[in-house]
Amino acid sequence: KRLVVLVSGSGTNLQALLDAVAEAGPAAYGAEIVAVGADRDGIEGLARAERAGLPTFVCKVKDHGSRDDWDRALAEATAAYEPDLVVSAGFMKIVGKEFLARFGGRFVNTHPALLPSFPGAHGVRDALAYGARVTGCTVHFVDDGVDTGPIIAQGVVEVRDEDDESALHERIKEVERRLLVDVVGRLARNGYRIEGRKVVIQ
Ligand code: GRF
Repeated sequence: KRLVVLVSGSGTNLQALLDAVAEAGPAAYGAEIVAVGADRDGIEGLARAERAGLPTFVCKVKDHGSRDDWDRALAEATAAYEPDLVVSAGFMKIVGKEFLARFGGRFVNTHPALLPSFPGAHGVRDALAYGARVTGCTVHFVDDGVDTGPIIAQGVVEVRDEDDESALHERIKEVERRLLVDVVGRLARNGYRIEGRKVVIQ
């Protein structure tokens, strides 16, 4: 299976996928990353892709006359690599109807909180501020809401009294990277069905 991964930052989830494919080999893992896309330049996630010898593309909202134009450009840039599965690994933009028309049902996102709790761009900060005693991460299919698509898997992380946002986020990311590698591999190898809000991996 062909994967395109979308990033906006450090790309440690991308790196975990790259390492998993390299370690097992694409056939055994069930997928290989064929390209990495981003919404901005100069991020470590793109550097990681380049170090891995992968093609990259950048679609910046400000380079397009409208959000819909950006969404279409992102969809076309992604489609050029003919992915079977698209993975948002820290991609910090909400895609629009064109992208979902093409990749809905095979577009996966990882979120650093236990959805439906704490959706949006500050899930770690919000869980901490709320005083949650456990939080974690969620891998889910992307639908037309914000972090509302069918949940595939979740991992639980305890919140410690001494945690600040970055300490907690780093601890969540340790679980998140393993969860994402496991889920993406299973989706690619086994195939899956989405039945309403339930995801059945064969
Ligand atoms: C991940 O925790 C992701 O869930 C969140 O931002 C972080 C991205 O980390 N949206 P990285 O870029 O994969 O290191």
